[in-house]
Amino acid sequence: MSLLKVESLTVRYGSVEAVRGVSFEVGKGEVVCLVGESGSGKSTVLRAIGGLLPPEASADGSVLFLGKNLLKLPKKELDALRGNQIGFVFQEPSLYLDPLFKVGDQVAETCFIHHPDRDCRRQALLSLEKVGVEDPVRVYNSYPHQLSGGLKQRVNVADATVNGPLLLLADEPTTALDVSTQKVVLALFRRLKEEGSSILFVTHDFGVVWEIADRVVVLKDGRVVEEGSVFDLYREPKHPYTRKLVSIFKELAEF
Ligand SMILES: Nc1ncnc2c1ncn2[C@@H]1O[C@H](COP(=O)(O)OP(=O)(O)O)[C@@H](O)[C@H]1O
Ligand SMILES: [Mg+2]
Repeated sequence: MSLLKVESLTVRYGSVEAVRGVSFEVGKGEVVCLVGESGSGKSTVLRAIGGLLPPEASADGSVLFLGKNLLKLPKKELDALRGNQIGFVFQEPSLYLDPLFKVGDQVAETCFIHHPDRDCRRQALLSLEKVGVEDPVRVYNSYPHQLSGGLKQRVNVADATVNGPLLLLADEPTTALDVSTQKVVLALFRRLKEEGSSILFVTHDFGVVWEIADRVVVLKDGRVVEEGSVFDLYREPKHPYTRKLVSIFKELAEF
């Protein structure tokens, strides 16, 4: 059984149909990359899965997680899943972290909301250690402005994974980072996968897809236009958008 099963998902912002009958699955321990040009509906799909759509949006279809339809789940049950069994990493780490609080306390808070019985300070330190932060105590006690972009993104991943989620939703988590920091953060996602996490990863960079994906789902104008293993797409991209994406990657790889 797959961990996540999205079926005929349609999302409207008023009269704008941003996502139109999208279906795909994410298996246990699988990394699925959602790719597509800007405006194709990638973020909307992720927000619909995570219950983070803005109030003006409406969603139809179903998003089954562990057999429960997240689109129909009462808010209390959804809140119990989010940050706990489902973690998020967003593109811009600065927007995600609160400038007024120590980053470690923010990670500990994510633990405490769901598991007040645990030693959350320790869990937060462990989580920072797991994402490869060299001096977890110093980072724990830092405010966001004292950290580099790469460190802030690691803190985000530490926050998203502090409760050991089954599914990680990541919306272009490396796009705002410089190339060398991107590599570090991608390596981190690969490790999470090796440890058994399922990841739904949004990107528009086939280089990133190549590094971490098992399967790829290609969106265009809110619809799935192609889907397959990363090798199939690399060898034989069918849709013109996918062909373009892969050919840019191949050209770069030749340098
Ligand atoms: N809050 C919103 N209100 C109205 N339209 C929106 C809103 N958010 C996104 N859209 C529209 O939905 C479509 C898909 O957007 P998005 O999911 O952000 O695409 P992507 O992440 O692939 O760039 C776009 O046409 C965008 O303009
Ligand atoms: Mg987006």
